[in-house]
Amino acid sequence: MKATRVLLLLLTFCVTACTSAASLSPPEPKTPTVLITGASRGIGYELARQYADLGWGVIATCRNPSTADALQALAGSRSNVIIESLDVTDFAEMDELAVRYKGVPIDVLLNNAGILGGNDRQKFGQFDYTAFDEIMAVNVIGPIRMVELFVDNVALSEQKKIINISSSVGSIAMAFPGQNFYKASKSALNMSMKIIAKELKGSKDPNRKQIVVGLIHPGVVRTEFAGNVPIPMIEPEESAAGIIEVIQNYYVTRRQSGDFMSYTGSKLPW
Ligand SMILES: NC(=O)c1ccc[n+]([C@@H]2O[C@H](COP(=O)([O-])OP(=O)(O)OC[C@H]3O[C@@H](n4cnc5c(N)ncnc54)[C@H](OP(=O)(O)O)[C@@H]3O)[C@@H](O)[C@H]2O)c1
Repeated sequence: MKATRVLLLLLTFCVTACTSAASLSPPEPKTPTVLITGASRGIGYELARQYADLGWGVIATCRNPSTADALQALAGSRSNVIIESLDVTDFAEMDELAVRYKGVPIDVLLNNAGILGGNDRQKFGQFDYTAFDEIMAVNVIGPIRMVELFVDNVALSEQKKIINISSSVGSIAMAFPGQNFYKASKSALNMSMKIIAKELKGSKDPNRKQIVVGLIHPGVVRTEFAGNVPIPMIEPEESAAGIIEVIQNYYVTRRQSGDFMSYTGSKLPW
């Protein structure tokens, strides 16, 4: 079943490419593909659902597909959604996925998976340093490694975008107390992706050169991550819709590769 869907994704691209080469009429727009990490719930699930509604090919990855009920229901009702097992801290699993998707164009690589890591473990004076490693593994190393493994899939695509779900709390200019490790992880993610953006721009490979890298704050969103904190929150539907609009309008709004933006489209201070 899974192999058939991967094949179908591949076939979509081959058929489109062959048709456009042979005919004299303008080429059909290709079906774009997005790969999302952490698509089991929250913002990641909502991104998968909305991209599926837009008719994109959706590679929805999550740690435990067998317990991702909402995602399973989505994939069961849509032929354009495929679920892949992926823990972004499991290097072997990441490698295996990259090998299976070798040569498949991915228009948008969406690094969404992230953890807060627990408030009590990151209070100054009682830091639990094991939490630091856990948070960095998911929020920083995972996304960086996804980019290393899938950069050529993105380079092969039409849209060529690498998007990372960051957070405004990673902004050093807007720093406030608490959640030390989590905030540091998002600052590190921002810096690392900014560097990758510049490295890709300077690449000798013309396809890699065109890749844009984005960092998007999703808003304060009502998910398990945000918990029951009594502050105003938006729903995952609104957040995902905003994120998708920012991604789609990248060129219209003249955003630069490496920019740090909000889901509303406004630029954020570093
Ligand atoms: N919610 C907010 O207010 C807010 C604000 C700013 C930024 N963000 C960022 O938005 C992103 C999504 O957050 P959310 O609010 O949707 O949180 P969420 O509801 O807690 O969802 C987090 C997702 O990440 C996945 N995940 C965790 N560890 C993983 C790992 N090792 N490998 C693969 N997937 C993993 C979870 O999978 P499981 O189901 O397997 O646990 C889940 O699908 C995160 O990067 C977060 O930092 C959120």
